[in-house]
Amino acid sequence: MFDGVPGWPVVLADGPVLLRPYRRSDATAWSEVRRANERWLAPWESTPVGRWEELNSPSAFRYVHRDQRRSARRGESMPFAVCLREHGRERFVGHLNIGNIVRRAFCSGYVGYWVDARVAGRGVIPTAMALAVDHAFTAGGLHRVEVNIRPENKPSRRVVEKLAFREESYHPRYMHIAGAWRDHIGYALTSEEVAAEGGLLARWHRLHAAAS
Ligand SMILES: CC(C)(COP(=O)(O)OP(=O)(O)OC[C@H]1O[C@@H](n2cnc3c(N)ncnc32)[C@H](O)[C@@H]1OP(=O)(O)O)[C@@H](O)C(=O)NCCC(=O)NCCS
Repeated sequence: MFDGVPGWPVVLADGPVLLRPYRRSDATAWSEVRRANERWLAPWESTPVGRWEELNSPSAFRYVHRDQRRSARRGESMPFAVCLREHGRERFVGHLNIGNIVRRAFCSGYVGYWVDARVAGRGVIPTAMALAVDHAFTAGGLHRVEVNIRPENKPSRRVVEKLAFREESYHPRYMHIAGAWRDHIGYALTSEEVAAEGGLLARWHRLHAAAS
């Protein structure tokens, strides 16, 4: 369907965590989760241009989905719906995107993510990140991924710390988040850093087992 785009589309899974491309039929679930999580998500997202209810309505999803499909088709992003498979059902619980992909001599992208507060603390996003990064470093043809996080966002910093990303930079007034230019800490990984360990998912399983 998307001839010529390395590694897209794809479905990835580990235990109950499933990553897949969005579908048009995700509109209702996406809107329900986004609307229920305004206070949880808004402090960490780019400053909205409009009301949360409207920007996250089922009809707004049409435009979000269209933009995601366009950029994925151009090979500029890998936008995953994050789902949990439980009790024989698949439930939409979050989002993980490898965006701003630049290829040629760079072969790098930025990872962004969020999860429904109702399933926070279960390691869903570290698992999703490990699956997506391993895929990006193999079939996706990338060499490096970056994650930029506000210093105040301790849960998100824990995600990259638990996966042993390298902290490599500090960006003053980096992005317009929740109404102001906010500093960010830059974390990164290159494919060489995880290849010797059998990938990021293998590293995550090993570190997670050692910590518990
Ligand atoms: C950051 C986020 C994606 C983490 O996802 P997750 O699947 O819950 O990740 P984890 O299960 O590994 O939990 C990460 C940390 O969150 C914290 N945490 C756990 N449960 C929590 C809860 N119910 N409420 C708040 N924080 C919680 C813990 O500090 C945990 O670290 P620990 O495992 O060392 O205790 C999630 O907190 C989120 O969506 N936050 C709002 C949006 C956001 O910040 N996006 C990232 C922007 S850079």
